[in-house]
Amino acid sequence: MRLHAFLPLLLSAITSTTASDSPSQLTTWEQIHQTLHTYPLAVDFKQASLYPQVFANDAFANYTGPLANLTGIDAIREGLMASVASLISQHQLGTTVIDIHDDGVSANSTTYFTATLFTLMPNQMGSRDYTILYGLYSDQLKLVQNEGWRISTRYLEFMAPNLGNLTLG
Ligand SMILES: *[C@@H]1O[C@H](CO)[C@@H](O)[C@H](O)[C@H]1NC(C)=O
Ligand SMILES: *[C@@H]1O[C@H](CO)[C@@H](O)[C@H](O)[C@H]1NC(C)=O
Ligand SMILES: *[C@@H]1O[C@H](CO)[C@@H](O)[C@H](O)[C@H]1NC(C)=O
Ligand SMILES: *[C@@H]1O[C@H](CO)[C@@H](O)[C@H](O)[C@H]1NC(C)=O
Repeated sequence: MRLHAFLPLLLSAITSTTASDSPSQLTTWEQIHQTLHTYPLAVDFKQASLYPQVFANDAFANYTGPLANLTGIDAIREGLMASVASLISQHQLGTTVIDIHDDGVSANSTTYFTATLFTLMPNQMGSRDYTILYGLYSDQLKLVQNEGWRISTRYLEFMAPNLGNLTLG
């Protein structure tokens, strides 16, 4: 895909703004926002190396269905990468509300998403199956020393019926 030509540029931008051994110029809210919004790049560009910039090592995620009980970053990465391995995906994040807790090292957030998934048939542009998913992520985050803000717990909630004719799972 032509889109992938932009990937090196995108990844270097992400790396330079989330590398957090040194004090970041971003506010706490901005750092958390950056973590949450790096997620679509990990999933949609199938970048295993970006998952540790999004999830804590001991994170738990419940994406419902076959991905309802993912414990640990390896399970999360492998589960999500497998779920889009034979698809083109685009996760569009929207409404983002972040509550930073008084301890300064934990937070929780709600982030809307619209995820569009297409079957991978590069030479048959007019005849793809697709589905559009509408929902939100309800997350707990923590500040991991020498790394930055990471999702520690994620629950997905669907907010509307799915559209399209792609049967998943
Ligand atoms: C995952 O979330 C669903 C509701 O969306 C719930 O029914 C299920 O018990 C949860 N599973 C775990 C392991 O948290
Ligand atoms: C979720 O997975 C853990 C192992 O990672 C297991 O101990 C637990 O029983 C599972 N929970 C459910 C509801 O399947
Ligand atoms: C954070 O968690 C609290 C307690 O569960 C909840 O009331 C609040 O709505 C959450 N904030 C966000 C932004 O999701
Ligand atoms: C699924 O929908 C797409 C878009 O409308 C269409 O091109 C494709 O033929 C449909 N596939 C099936 C199996 O109905």
